[in-house]
Amino acid sequence: MSRLKEDFLWGGALSNVQAEGAYLEDGKGLNVYDTLEVVPEPGIAPMFCDTAVATDHYHHYKEDIDYMAEMGFKAYRFSVVWSRIHPMGDDEKPNEAGLAYYEDMVDYLLEKGIEPVVSLVHFDMPDHLAKAYNGFLNKKVIDFYEKHVESVVERLKGKVKYYITYNEINLAPYHPSLVAGVHKPDDMSQEELFAQLTVNVEVAHAKAVETIKRIDPQAQVGGMLGHAPFYPLTCKSEDIIAADFKNKMHNYLPFDIMTSGELPEYFLNFMKQRDISIDFNEEERRIVKSASLKLDYLAFSYYRSNVQSSFEDIEDLTELENAILFDNRGIKNPHYQANEWGWQIDSEGLRYSLVDFYHRYHKPLFIVENGIGIDEKLVNGKVYDDERISYYQKHITSIKRAVLHDGVDLMGYLAWSPIDFLSSHKEIRKRYGFVYVNRDFEDLLDLKRYPKKSFYWYQKVIQTQGEDLENQVDY
Ligand code: BG6
Repeated sequence: MSRLKEDFLWGGALSNVQAEGAYLEDGKGLNVYDTLEVVPEPGIAPMFCDTAVATDHYHHYKEDIDYMAEMGFKAYRFSVVWSRIHPMGDDEKPNEAGLAYYEDMVDYLLEKGIEPVVSLVHFDMPDHLAKAYNGFLNKKVIDFYEKHVESVVERLKGKVKYYITYNEINLAPYHPSLVAGVHKPDDMSQEELFAQLTVNVEVAHAKAVETIKRIDPQAQVGGMLGHAPFYPLTCKSEDIIAADFKNKMHNYLPFDIMTSGELPEYFLNFMKQRDISIDFNEEERRIVKSASLKLDYLAFSYYRSNVQSSFEDIEDLTELENAILFDNRGIKNPHYQANEWGWQIDSEGLRYSLVDFYHRYHKPLFIVENGIGIDEKLVNGKVYDDERISYYQKHITSIKRAVLHDGVDLMGYLAWSPIDFLSSHKEIRKRYGFVYVNRDFEDLLDLKRYPKKSFYWYQKVIQTQGEDLENQVDY
């Protein structure tokens, strides 16, 4: 028996800010993704698109949802672009056109029998909040975010069953401008920023949980992080300690806070060792605690694993930890191949992550992103993306092992992504979709949609509840 349970949430996910385009239409304001100055990934030539059109999902959303329905999606995760709802972020009233747009999207999904999973912030803070307030480093922005959440949930209550508070919350201190709208103040060290921003976004998450549960108690709420386990470079204890430190600070910290409602001891010690004191008042502590008791599930993205070494050139322990935290030396794992962007493919790392999270937190888990970026060309209306099929075959096999053999409670699996969009580095060359969108780097062409070979493969996987993973489809 290798089928997953009948109510397993098969589907896909998308970040709307990376796909919609229509960046100034219907009252939308600019956001941090629109204005992002991209630093290319290591070794990648800069070829960045602007966000004016992206893959024009704004105007094609019904057609794109039709494709999802054809694949048999049970669930679809999308993000409500914050600057469509509150164009400046500190506006008194929400933008009606923005609310109506997402309500129509939800209605259409429900009509097609697809459960919406709504992310409330995904790289889309209104640019004004970043520029005028310095994003989530400023507590006022947490209140604006709470207002945004309130506007969305008031509008969608009774229709949306699953919410995700904050996309990849653990990446806020590492990519502060895109993920949290923050620029490091000159008088703040990187470690101080790490500590304060980690706590601020946790407070934002907690306030979102409270707001959602107050307005729509039936809705289920999940916290979400961008997960990449760090393996020790060798079996030397120094490397194991280094990887353990990195995993705690990078991967566990947000879930540790969300689930216990308290700052864990290793984090308090990190601050003590560095003489860092943070602004975290009694009321915020109370909310974080209260939200921890209401959290329904833990969601995460998974693309790859990483390697951590103990950097033998650094002797001082605090200096070493800072290097482990911030110095991305990009050490390769000799056992795995990588895609063109250097993301190593480690499917059993997903099984390991599921088992690890489940036994640490004892909460239902939800994979809300997993996929591979590939540079693809359309030839005679077709894209033979066997490399993507192979990636998914291996990862779904690992998921089945985690669920059917290891006993992990997994709610669903959302592939990244149903359609092509711009990568987080605004690249169209790095494609993730089951459906190809016909545009080039500079030439927008006709933006027509073409199902790739993986589209029909994933359709068969869903039809058979994950049983038939063979790469044999009519295409
Ligand atoms: C996740 C993000 O980090 O990874 C997505 O939530 C992003 O928004 C995805 O698109 C893949 O990363 P990238 O950089 O290849 O777009």
